Amino acid sequence: MKVLVVGSGAREHALVHALARSSHGPELLCAPGNAGIAADARLVAVPADDLEGLTEAAVREEVDLVVIGPEAPLVGGLADRLVAAAVPCFGPVAAAAALEGSKAFCKEVMAAAGVPTAAYTVVGDVEAGMAAIASYPAVIKADGLAAGKGVIIAEDARAARDALHALLVEHRFGTDRVVVEEHLAGEELSLLAICDGERALPLASAQDFKRIFDGDLGPNTGGRGAYSPVPAIGEQRALELCEAIHQPVLDALRRRGIAFSGILYAGLMLTAQGARVLEFNVRFGDPETQAILPRLRTDLLELLAAATTPGGLDGVVLEWDPRPAVTIVLASGGYPESSSSGDVIHGLERVPPDALVTHAGTARDGAGAVLTAGGRVLSVTALGGDIAAARASAYAAAEMIEFDGRQLRHDVAARAAGQ
Ligand code: AMP
Ligand code: GLY
Repeated sequence: MKVLVVGSGAREHALVHALARSSHGPELLCAPGNAGIAADARLVAVPADDLEGLTEAAVREEVDLVVIGPEAPLVGGLADRLVAAAVPCFGPVAAAAALEGSKAFCKEVMAAAGVPTAAYTVVGDVEAGMAAIASYPAVIKADGLAAGKGVIIAEDARAARDALHALLVEHRFGTDRVVVEEHLAGEELSLLAICDGERALPLASAQDFKRIFDGDLGPNTGGRGAYSPVPAIGEQRALELCEAIHQPVLDALRRRGIAFSGILYAGLMLTAQGARVLEFNVRFGDPETQAILPRLRTDLLELLAAATTPGGLDGVVLEWDPRPAVTIVLASGGYPESSSSGDVIHGLERVPPDALVTHAGTARDGAGAVLTAGGRVLSVTALGGDIAAARASAYAAAEMIEFDGRQLRHDVAARAAGQ
């Protein structure tokens, strides 16, 4: 079998690693990939936003399955093009991917599905936004894709006005609508479910660390680390949450004639009143995937292929390694506002083989040295007998890798490890 993974992040590298373990021995391709993925898959030089080029490459290479990593090609309709070209594809069509592409659409579907979420108002100008805020902190969200950076938690009226101005007057994320919503307090949880258009099956729970600084301080980023599973959310609880959250959304989409095949990722807040949805993503999470997939014992290729057919997941039971996994993200200097590139990465050869290094923003120079080439540079994952052991191994491995400006959070999974 020939499989093409679309994307160039550590998530896609983790997908390539997990697909390489398949008993079917697939030939793996990745478009466009990165310096690390090049060691594990044949790179196809087509960017993830070139939908026509990707479709052509999939047809030319006669691939048996395309696995789409990032949200932008999904929201842009890559799955629709592949379906039209008769190429099997893991990832939802654009009408379903709009759950992530538009927060307003996502809220509308949640209301139709009876799924609990924060109270909200959609506004198009600053004064309407200010009028919609009932109390502080207030949550202000750009109504479009923003790489995880389009949500602002405003502590007071001044911060709220600045945020609304940035989004609605400066159009920082290219959108002219924002969602203003109630602030929810509690523990966050990422619960991803694999969906075949009819049925949702939860993956192991995970928690992601989004803020730039230790103690959950500073702006949101694309993710600084993760662990899986979350101790309070075992397989039974995950099934219950999936029944209450993912399945009704799938059903509500079906009532509109939309089949969701792919990953439906619920970002949840576990509040004192129960689980509430913060957002849906329509793809594997990054960095959650780096912590989830190394624990999956079920053949990932068989699983993804099954999900491309309605009813394909019937009877499927997922098997997991009982050991928890912890992932640490190494970011470059200036992240998340900017990122520095071209710094030589030292120490990759010192990382012990049982720690998994997945590449994101890396490149090779003419002499073969690995250089930084983006905000999130590498992810390092380790498994352990318990979360504390996995955490210690992941940090020990991460500390062996050095480059100028390297940033990492020091408290990933600390609370879960009882520290
Ligand atoms: P989102 O992109 O909607 O998941 O938001 C990014 C992050 O902002 C979430 O992971 C939360 O940490 C935070 N967030 C989003 N919505 C809310 C909310 N209603 N209350 C509190 N925090 C929120
Ligand atoms: N970890 C957050 C995301 O993938 O959107």
